[in-house]
Formats: sequence, C-alpha cells, structure tokens
Amino acid sequence: MKNIIIGSDHAGVELKSFFKEYLENNDFKILDVGTFDVNSCDYPDIAKSLANKMKENSIETGILICGTGVGMSIAVNRFSFIRGSLLYNNEVAKLAREHNNANVAIFGARMFSKEENLEFLKTFLSTSFSNEERHKKRITKLD
Ligand code: RB5
Repeated sequence: MKNIIIGSDHAGVELKSFFKEYLENNDFKILDVGTFDVNSCDYPDIAKSLANKMKENSIETGILICGTGVGMSIAVNRFSFIRGSLLYNNEVAKLAREHNNANVAIFGARMFSKEENLEFLKTFLSTSFSNEERHKKRITKLD
C-alpha cells in the first residue's frame, strides 16, 4: 500500500472525492487534508497544510486541486522540498515525473472533465523519475 496525501479548495472538492474513490480501489492509503465541503475556503491554507503534513509524515506523493490549478501551484511551490506540477495533458503528466521528479500533482478541476483529470493522474502515478544525470543536476540546482 502506497501513502498519498490529497487536498483541494471548494472548487476541487468534487474531483477530490472522484480521485479518492480511484485511489482507494488501487491500494493507496490516503491522508486527506480537506476541504470537506463546498463552502468557500482559501487555497493557500490547504496547500500549506498539505506541505506540512507531507513533511511530518514523510509522504512522497501529493495531489492538490483548485479551480484552475494555478493558485495551488503558486502556493505549494513556496515549500523548497516540493516540486509541484500543474497537469494539463498526459505528456506533461509523464514528463513532470521523468524530467522534473515532481512530487505533487496539481489539477484544475474547472478546466478539464473528471475523467480527463483522472487520466493525467494515472499517468503521473505510473511514471518514475528517469534518474538521468542531466535531470538530477537541474533538480539539485533548485535548492
Ligand atoms: C476559486 O473560485 C478559485 O479561484 C480557485 O479554486 C483557484 O482556481 C485559484 O487559483
């Protein structure tokens, strides 16, 4: 069973439930940092909570969702141990893992259908970092 942490604001709460159903059926142990209803909330609070809990619990992979994915991308990438990537097609989902070793997958719930976003997530989760020197060097330079 693989640990995964997930969070969304109100715009992403429905997609979060959809993702959780898939993850539960595919042997993931999920830590959900909210939000848990459609009442308006602020994406920086959720991104911060996900980053802190990811570190505390040594969880390697995270998922964040908001309306566009942009707010969550800006917010979560303020944490130096996070490489968050907004996923907007399957190619990006694959390359974000292979080249960037992204550890947080970010989604725009209002930009794509639930099914399209799930395809991006599946690609992200099933792809490994290439481990090639040129990519390792670039990632090291981020610090
Ligand atoms: C919420 O209405 C929306 O602004 C938020 O989910 C997100 O898209 C921000 O980047």
